[in-house]
Amino acid sequence: GAPVQVNVDKIEPGEMVSVAWQGKPVFLLRRTEESLAILESEEHLGQLRDPASDINNQPEYTKNNTRSIRPEILIVVGICTHLGCVPEYRANGMIGVIHSLYFCPCHGSKFDLAGRVYKGVPAPTNLIVPPHTYIIGKIFFVY
Ligand code: FES
Repeated sequence: GAPVQVNVDKIEPGEMVSVAWQGKPVFLLRRTEESLAILESEEHLGQLRDPASDINNQPEYTKNNTRSIRPEILIVVGICTHLGCVPEYRANGMIGVIHSLYFCPCHGSKFDLAGRVYKGVPAPTNLIVPPHTYIIGKIFFVY
């Protein structure tokens, strides 16, 4: 398939867009300052199954606390690592989680805004970060 280019500078804080890449949805989200602060908090990290993303499902250049090249921009494959449903972006949280998150409607898996899976849900691993790079503010998926 062809690479996909998206101008991420057009995405507003707290907004997510979904694009098709290799037949899969890829989510691009601009995180707010508040969301970024939560990703760093010890209390939040304690709720995650693999907070340091030790299971290798992101490119080496995104192996950091935001799992991204640009801290404010999340890019993940929008496919639940349990059985492949498409998680929903819940900008206002949900019962039991006060922060924005991704929620999988099939069996209830939850992922934070770095695509990291919470403890106690069926999905075994964090969401996949696709290989990508930036060209003057745009994103370009490599494969
Ligand atoms: Fe997402 Fe089962 S497919 S929780």
